[in-house]
Amino acid sequence: MEGFNGLNDIGAVVEADRAHVWHHLSQHKQYETVDPRVIVEGKGMRVWDARGKEHLDAVSGGVWTVNVGYGRESIADAVRDQLVRMNYFAGAAGSIPGSVFAKRLIEKMPGLSRVYYSNSGSEANEKVYKMVRQISHRHHGGKKWKILYRERDYHGTTIAALASGGQAQRNAQYGPFPDGFVMVPHCLEYRNQWDVENYGERAADAIEEVILREGPDTIGCLVLEPVTAGGGVIVPPTGYWERVQEICRKYDILLHIDEVVCGVGRTGLWFGYQHYGIQPDFVTMAKGVASGYAAISCTVTTEAVFEMFKDDPNDPMSYFRDISTFGGCTAGPAAALENMRIIEAEGLLANTLAMGDYCLANLQALMEKHRVIGEVRGKGLFVGAELVADRGTKEPADEKKVQAVVADCMAQGVIIGATNRSVPGFNNTLCLSPALIATKDDIDQITGAIDAALGRVFA
Ligand SMILES: Cc1ncc(COP(=O)(O)O)c(C=O)c1O
Repeated sequence: MEGFNGLNDIGAVVEADRAHVWHHLSQHKQYETVDPRVIVEGKGMRVWDARGKEHLDAVSGGVWTVNVGYGRESIADAVRDQLVRMNYFAGAAGSIPGSVFAKRLIEKMPGLSRVYYSNSGSEANEKVYKMVRQISHRHHGGKKWKILYRERDYHGTTIAALASGGQAQRNAQYGPFPDGFVMVPHCLEYRNQWDVENYGERAADAIEEVILREGPDTIGCLVLEPVTAGGGVIVPPTGYWERVQEICRKYDILLHIDEVVCGVGRTGLWFGYQHYGIQPDFVTMAKGVASGYAAISCTVTTEAVFEMFKDDPNDPMSYFRDISTFGGCTAGPAAALENMRIIEAEGLLANTLAMGDYCLANLQALMEKHRVIGEVRGKGLFVGAELVADRGTKEPADEKKVQAVVADCMAQGVIIGATNRSVPGFNNTLCLSPALIATKDDIDQITGAIDAALGRVFA
């Protein structure tokens, strides 16, 4: 390994990590006896750890992020060139990559027109909540201030983002949360709450019931993931989205789609909501926007929303008084532009659709062999397999066994994920989100590892 600021021994790097780094979503007691994992190199779909072990990464950097794969020199070059020319100026001013990327992005999002830059998914979502609250104060006399969110969805880690989070295990012990966030039921048909034919419409009607209970003039916005990610890879049932849009229009509620996971190709279209022909008022995105080569998030909205913040130039309190220091970093949009070029030049949307279908078919075939797979679901290269102890009762599989499957795959050199500290009792869905460059061979290796792991863990 090459020296890095004097730490030229990989053992010393691992020790420095053990001694000083606090890892996300991790219980650290384990690192008193085993080494923390340090990833040192990546190329394409593969990463190498500190011991030199190769892994096929089926989760794009762990959290659905490295959509165009590792080791992209052209992105690194674009970022370097931009940084030496102009690295940063606060977002009250524009930048060349910021302007050009906004234009390119908006070309892919008909009906939307404005991009607000920040640097994480949580922050992008909070911008929407602030906009909704300011619209309430300035345009609705303090009404329409509540934000509806859905059980099982996740919108980020900050306190207000958690307040809009429908995963009890992510929220527990971090309250109290701010007022005005109200939960609506999830729409996972496999765990059905209503015995009806038209499940999608029924699940959407449940949102209307909450609106009527709370009072339509109290509700400003509804935030939803297009396909729920960490809450169990939930693809909404047929008819759901159309009805959701109708309900939002009927009660004058702004529709906010959180595309932090689905955005920029993950489901095989530029955005997840575009599968459903709906027209959101806000779209937020982060992870795949620059595939993790730089931190960037975007809050995108319509001209109608934007207009509400410039209607009275004589009022010093009328505009969006928000700041995101690192929203002014030019590395993000420079990387995002090259990331978008790669997706187009390499036909990665089409590949995502084809490989997503292939992956689903592989997992469906495994259902015949492994009764522990209760349901397989997904869209594009965003796929989940829910594990159950009993197919008849749908009792969730023991979480420890689910984690054992993940660990077995890791031992085989394949990194997969599973729902983790999300919905109590339902940390039982295996999650796959390989980079959009995945080939049939890669998918076969991933599902082959799962096959072997399920055979061993549930023998
Ligand atoms: C759907 C969704 N929204 C928002 C976030 C928060 O993004 P970040 O971790 O960049 O703040 C996440 C993170 O996993 C997510 O899955």
